[in-house]
Amino acid sequence: MSFIFVCYQVAKNEIIWQWVKKDLACHIDTKKEYICRMNNTQLINEYFQVIDSNDPFLLNGDSFEVLSKLPDSSVDCIITSPPYWGHRLYSGGGIGLEKTYTEYIQNLLRITYELYRVLKPTGSFWLNIGDTYRSKKLQGIPWRVAIGLMDEQNWILRNSVIWNKHKGGLDSSKDKLRNMHENIFHFVKDEKSYFYDTTKIRSDARKSIIKNGSVISATGVSGIRYKRQIELSTSLSHEEKQNAFNSLNGVLERIKIGEISDFRMIIRGQQRATHSDSEKVSGRAKELYQKGFYFLFYHPDGTLPGDVWEIIPEDTQKRTEHYAVYPEDLCKIPILATCPKNGIVLDPFSGSGTTSLVAFKHNRKSIGIDISAEYIEFSKERINEYKYENSGALQLFDQE
Ligand SMILES: C[S@@+](CC[C@H](N)C(=O)[O-])C[C@H]1O[C@@H](n2cnc3c(N)ncnc32)[C@H](O)[C@@H]1O
Repeated sequence: MSFIFVCYQVAKNEIIWQWVKKDLACHIDTKKEYICRMNNTQLINEYFQVIDSNDPFLLNGDSFEVLSKLPDSSVDCIITSPPYWGHRLYSGGGIGLEKTYTEYIQNLLRITYELYRVLKPTGSFWLNIGDTYRSKKLQGIPWRVAIGLMDEQNWILRNSVIWNKHKGGLDSSKDKLRNMHENIFHFVKDEKSYFYDTTKIRSDARKSIIKNGSVISATGVSGIRYKRQIELSTSLSHEEKQNAFNSLNGVLERIKIGEISDFRMIIRGQQRATHSDSEKVSGRAKELYQKGFYFLFYHPDGTLPGDVWEIIPEDTQKRTEHYAVYPEDLCKIPILATCPKNGIVLDPFSGSGTTSLVAFKHNRKSIGIDISAEYIEFSKERINEYKYENSGALQLFDQE
């Protein structure tokens, strides 16, 4: 059965978009009740303003061209992986085939310039990019691009994540290590007002327990060791020891009532200050010098993910259609932390539609752009398949 995406007016100011059967659309057409297939700009505007489902919107075309039709400050989050320089030939051509890396970076920056315009001031841009060897020389492409974005386009870099792929290339090299990682950069436009919801990405906090009448923190700290260290300290004065005991008891009480789940105590002469021992450099070292101790508290809602992500590459699936699919897990933290619920995610190099699929699974709208019509079709099938398997609902996209 075949469907097309149509827009029709049901009342004066009420416009509805729907996937309808092709012949029904023709029927509406002859009665002149539907407005017709619109051009991209109108279509995109309607997607932003009218559609209230999270069905992804997939567009075939060169990103630079398609992006120029998107309104300013209209998407919440961009997650993408452009073709790496000189790595592969995709079915639709596009960037990555330039003779020099400078040309490649220029072409990529032309597109990121548009991305800057379409991203809301509260938005985030996550860029996954790999490196390339030429004549045995690693080209340093990810950082060249990142520096270009910061220096030429005002992007603010918040994190440089290392994606540890665990599996590397072939290990037949006789003169270098296997390449196991790629970079993922997190950029924002405004360092003060960008959206970031840490509660959605913290790991579950482990709980403290009571054992033999004593309270024990999530990682087994009972306070006994600290009490002995305070007692035996030759570095703390009598008054400092008294204060340290009182504070430690206060902290154990807070653990007991569940206000905090874990802590560490740093005592002068026993543990090293966390950052630097120099009081000039570290506020904590100063506290240690003046008071004799301080505490480090762990977040009661669990820990934040770090900037090294352990994710196995997606090489078992979808290889026949598109051979650079990134893992769904790669989009999870970016979407959960930096795209508000009901926000819009954009992938300007959407390939097999992974970003849109993850956005859909997490109740976000998404726009995917790819230069290859074949990949767009494949993405539609992939998302349809997911929808079908999970709800048995009517398929989303045009299918014969
Ligand atoms: C590394 S792949 C993206 C893979 C994707 N993350 C996934 O999981 O399937 C890069 C994609 O960029 C597309 N591409 C290359 N140049 C483009 C351009 N100028 N505009 C739009 N898409 C382009 C290629 O067709 C390819 O599908």
